[in-house]
Amino acid sequence: MKSEIEIIEEVTRFVKKAMQDHDSGHGWSHIERVVRVALHILDCEGRGNRQIVELGALMHDVGDHKFAAHDGPAEIRRVLGGLGVSHEVTEEVVNINENISFSKGKRPATHSIELQIVQDADRLDAMGAVGIARAFNYGGFKGNEIYDPRVRITDPPLLSGASSNSVSTVHHFYDKLLLLRDLMNTGTGAKLAEERHDYMVRYLDQFFREWNAGTDM
Ligand code: ADP
Ligand code: NI
Repeated sequence: MKSEIEIIEEVTRFVKKAMQDHDSGHGWSHIERVVRVALHILDCEGRGNRQIVELGALMHDVGDHKFAAHDGPAEIRRVLGGLGVSHEVTEEVVNINENISFSKGKRPATHSIELQIVQDADRLDAMGAVGIARAFNYGGFKGNEIYDPRVRITDPPLLSGASSNSVSTVHHFYDKLLLLRDLMNTGTGAKLAEERHDYMVRYLDQFFREWNAGTDM
């Protein structure tokens, strides 16, 4: 029987390796931040199962495009099953993996406290200074413009759920990033989201000031 600490260590090794083998390793620091923030939210909230939160955060992106394997639930069941993790804990981790994403996040199958916590931590990492860096990094990877002034920014966005197809990275703020503050599940997440949201608003204000510099503003 492996101890909980050994299980976390083995899963950490698995996730790190699966991400490194697939992509240039970019993704791992996101996972580390999500684990840390999720555990912080768990401690502040004083509810939720620590093992489920930690495994759920570590494995929340298993199966997505950052990973070598594409069937997240099957991969999670294989890895956790091999480590002797109980069926109940494994299915909670699968529930987090299947329901964390923005588009599916509106009506999760089981809205467990552990899913709520990991989802808040994942969304927080898309906000604030780190979120801005991730957005421009992703936009660059996709070959998108930083901003396309020909397409009017609509508030609320024209196509909800179309956020991964945003016409430019600045549009992505209006399609997704500025909506996240009001989607926080936990009180702790909501508190952390305030500062990151306000920072993005100030960033966009400065961005447009510079973009329009020299015109009649
Ligand atoms: P995760 O599941 O970890 O939240 P995603 O793959 O949904 O990751 O997104 C990774 C990062 O890329 C996030 O910070 C997200 O805001 C950003 N991103 C996703 N789509 C776009 C886009 N069209 N333009 C700019 N950034 C994007
Ligand atoms: Ni993520």
